[in-house]
Amino acid sequence: MPAAPLMSTYGRLPISFSRGEGCWLYDTNGNRYFDAISGIAVCGLGHSHPAVTDAITKQAAQLTHCSNLFKIPNQESLGELLCKVSGMDNAFFCNSGAEANEAAIKLARLHGKKRGIENPAIIVMENAFHGRTLATLSASGNRKVQAGFEPLVRGFVRTPFNDTKTLEHIADSNSNVVAVFLEPVQGEGGVTPADAEYLKYVEKVCREHEWLLMLDEVQTGNGRTGSYFAFQEYGIHPDVVTTAKGLGNGFPIGACLARGSAAEAFHPGSHGSTFGGNPLACAAALAVVQTIQKQNLSNRARELGERLISQFESQLGGADYIKQIRGKGLMIGIEMKEPCPELVPLAQAQGLLINVTQDKVIRLLPPLVMSDADADYLANTLCTLIKLYAGDDRKRPR
Ligand SMILES: Cc1ncc(COP(=O)(O)O)c(C=O)c1O
Repeated sequence: MPAAPLMSTYGRLPISFSRGEGCWLYDTNGNRYFDAISGIAVCGLGHSHPAVTDAITKQAAQLTHCSNLFKIPNQESLGELLCKVSGMDNAFFCNSGAEANEAAIKLARLHGKKRGIENPAIIVMENAFHGRTLATLSASGNRKVQAGFEPLVRGFVRTPFNDTKTLEHIADSNSNVVAVFLEPVQGEGGVTPADAEYLKYVEKVCREHEWLLMLDEVQTGNGRTGSYFAFQEYGIHPDVVTTAKGLGNGFPIGACLARGSAAEAFHPGSHGSTFGGNPLACAAALAVVQTIQKQNLSNRARELGERLISQFESQLGGADYIKQIRGKGLMIGIEMKEPCPELVPLAQAQGLLINVTQDKVIRLLPPLVMSDADADYLANTLCTLIKLYAGDDRKRPR
């Protein structure tokens, strides 16, 4: 078969899905798969959630698109709801995580200019991932994402994640800094949660230096880590929060939320998006946020995460091929001592969809709507597979 006329941006598995329902995906041959990655942290409510399907179909029949030159009532309602949920003051809507982060980067630069800083710099983390546009790949701490796209966008200063000393040194030596931008749990970087004391320290330094504290919650937000936004678990109050992925449960939408002076920085003409916050995307996201709130799915994600981690610990903990089992809510990483990319097709052959990031970290981002039995099925299927893969026959099932 000739290759499809698509640019070669992804290494794709030879499988296509025709239908999804809850935690399950069905391929074109009728086989079913347990989706433990949720389209990479997108379908938190599971596939084809009735509330989202209903909101999309009703809105599509009424009005799909209308320019931001006009008032869009459900964009205003979504902004209000997200601000209520997060304690932020206002929102800018766009279509993806990278775009939400672009908005945050622009806010930081405006904040710097207002303070008389001509060449504003943003502190970003090693191993960070913020997207694939030029500014967001420059902010990312992964050479693979940047290679070939130089010259990179300037104005980023990199520091090790969870390291207070280097941050302190930058604070003392660089007067161009205007913001710190980081993920509360690094996702692509290996499912690494920020230490609570570290985030508190970052917040303190930001306040002392009038820097913006900006959090990328594209992957962690929308209930996944045990509260609506992960920062709420840490007791900090950022100036800017970005999100996308789970916000539309599969319908493309991103948001940059801001408070205080950051919320005042944009004016008509300084930023925009043709599609961002259109009636259809906002109808989908309103249904998502309302469902997460109504069903207290953030809390459920915390419970399910604890259940999964304790099963992984009891079945795999202490094995000589496991380096660490970690995570927050339903963002879970099982770090192996050796690279394990072959686990992805092996799991797929068993009807289980997982992801491996940083070569050695099995990343799980299952739907927040799993039942306890679903979680147990996921844990047992994956643990059996990992043991077989690692040649561990101590507890191999007969
Ligand atoms: C933390 C984080 N930020 C930004 C992005 C980019 O989002 P998008 O692919 O929607 O542009 C991602 C995507 O994986 C992400 O995990």
